[in-house]
Amino acid sequence: MKTLKLLSRNKDDVLKAASLLKQGEVVAIPTETVYGLGANALDENAVKQIFIAKGRPQDNPLIVHINNLDWLTKLCDFVPQMALDLAQNFWPGPLTMVFKKSDLVPDSISRGLDTVAIRYPNHKVALKVIELAGTPIAAPSANTSGRPSTTNGDHVFDDLNGKISAILYDNQCVVGVESTVLDLTTDKPILLRPGGVTREQIEKIIGEIDVDKSIFQKIDNDKKVNSPGMKYKHYAPKAEVLVLTGNHEKTAQYIKEHCQINDGILCFDEYFDMFNEQNILTFGSFSDISEQARLLFLNLRKFDDMNVTKIYAQCPDGQGLGLAISNRLQKASGFNVLNLE
Ligand code: TXA
Ligand code: MG
Repeated sequence: MKTLKLLSRNKDDVLKAASLLKQGEVVAIPTETVYGLGANALDENAVKQIFIAKGRPQDNPLIVHINNLDWLTKLCDFVPQMALDLAQNFWPGPLTMVFKKSDLVPDSISRGLDTVAIRYPNHKVALKVIELAGTPIAAPSANTSGRPSTTNGDHVFDDLNGKISAILYDNQCVVGVESTVLDLTTDKPILLRPGGVTREQIEKIIGEIDVDKSIFQKIDNDKKVNSPGMKYKHYAPKAEVLVLTGNHEKTAQYIKEHCQINDGILCFDEYFDMFNEQNILTFGSFSDISEQARLLFLNLRKFDDMNVTKIYAQCPDGQGLGLAISNRLQKASGFNVLNLE
């Protein structure tokens, strides 16, 4: 299949992306978090093509992207008041909420669950495409399953050229990590995946929430989990990753002592000068978590091009957006983590 390269600054290209989606094709589109691999959410067959293009495990449900709240009542069986409060504060934005699904949601989206995950993205182009397509858009992150998510069109092309109809190129994603996934179908809401909206921000609006334990530990493949995506290998660059948590001075010192010539270093700006190795990528100051999030997947993919043997990564603590970064890094490493307090 020839993969068209479309540009979001070109109106005709945005129209083309929407019309391909309408015709049941799979098109990669930008969002504020990461690029999404979009298809018409109400078209069983179109949605199936997403799984083929990504090599996505069959039991892993998809997020449905909407551009107005009317879709919420159409796609969900029950919308609790809490959800409306969260929507008012964080939508459009990087928050995905899980609801009991309505009959409108095809099984190719929910994969056997009786729930559906909904997100209202905060991205002009994504919203325009949904509007023009006239239908909610199902979209997982636009990467080959298991690989780091993509935050620019070139990275989507690297993974999916020849497998999808088009890529709608826009700027580098501003958030850089995926949306927060919050399950609202239980008595007490459960954070299934930390992301662009922080736990602290959510708790300010609806009070205390639970945090799913799969955020911090490896889950066996045959375990039943709240969010099927959690048990699979995720975000992994080609090289083995060692994540170093705890005191930043100590983690930098550890890297200096152990890093070999062909290894890669992912460090905070402040420690760049400590290392003489060639394969160093910085991901912002240790005090700038937004910058770390923005550069995380971008850098994990850069290490692939550098052909490093092993990646040593400094890691922020779990406050605010740091929880999402630390979760992605730990999963990318298969929970190969060394804590140096
Ligand atoms: O920021 C994002 O959320 C991006 C952009 C493209 O919107 N999308 C994204 O989708 O990250 P994906 O498929 O890569 O991750 C969605 C996660 C998976 O872990 C999946 O298992 C979970 O959300 N999920 C989807 N539907 C669910 C449901 N009904 N119940 C529980 N978890 C669900
Ligand atoms: Mg993903």
